[in-house]
Amino acid sequence: MTERRATNITWHETETTREERESLLGQRGATVWLTGLSGSGKSTVAVAAEQALIRSGHAAYVLDGDNVRHGLNQNLGFSPEDRTENIRRIGEVAKLFADAGLIVLTSFISPYREDRDRVRALHDNGRFLEVFVDADLATCEARDVKGLYKKARAGEIPEFTGISAPYESPDRAELVLDTAAHDVEACVEQLLACLENRGLLKP
Ligand code: ADX
Repeated sequence: MTERRATNITWHETETTREERESLLGQRGATVWLTGLSGSGKSTVAVAAEQALIRSGHAAYVLDGDNVRHGLNQNLGFSPEDRTENIRRIGEVAKLFADAGLIVLTSFISPYREDRDRVRALHDNGRFLEVFVDADLATCEARDVKGLYKKARAGEIPEFTGISAPYESPDRAELVLDTAAHDVEACVEQLLACLENRGLLKP
């Protein structure tokens, strides 16, 4: 965990409450945290769910690992420490977006349970849903959409999740999506149903 270095800082409460922002948007903000191996389908599901949410009148936004690593987190690699810092920053960003009233869909391997639990703890109850995008290594490796597993097996990518770096499956995910058994459309349906059951969708 990075320690706070700044001193002499004061937390400023805003005048506007989350309830006011949410009533303006007509929805409740939340973070939908997709976790799983590279190639499990996190980004595909996140992008499709974002489309479905926007089309049904919800403000939604995807934060994606590969994209965020091009900008905000471009100074981070894949060591355990850097992954922890990657998830810490994204967790804070997601929390801000959720506080602004948006439905945030995050797509990060986020291999460490402790890191994900820390992000959960940042959020108010019911405003963080952990979604395990569950495809086993053999399935992800067979897909190898980005050709990275092949390179990792050849020893060209060190610390590759599932090959030479660990992945800790969630043990209390709000939802498990089996992307080997269900197509994208079915997974999005399950995700939306999960949001609806928790009162996070507009009537
Ligand atoms: S995380 O572990 O810190 O959560 P994140 O989701 O941001 O990872 O980034 C994962 C993406 O980076 C993968 O989908 C893949 O495209 C790319 N990548 C590059 N090197 C690695 C690596 N060593 N392990 C896992 N993914 C990697």
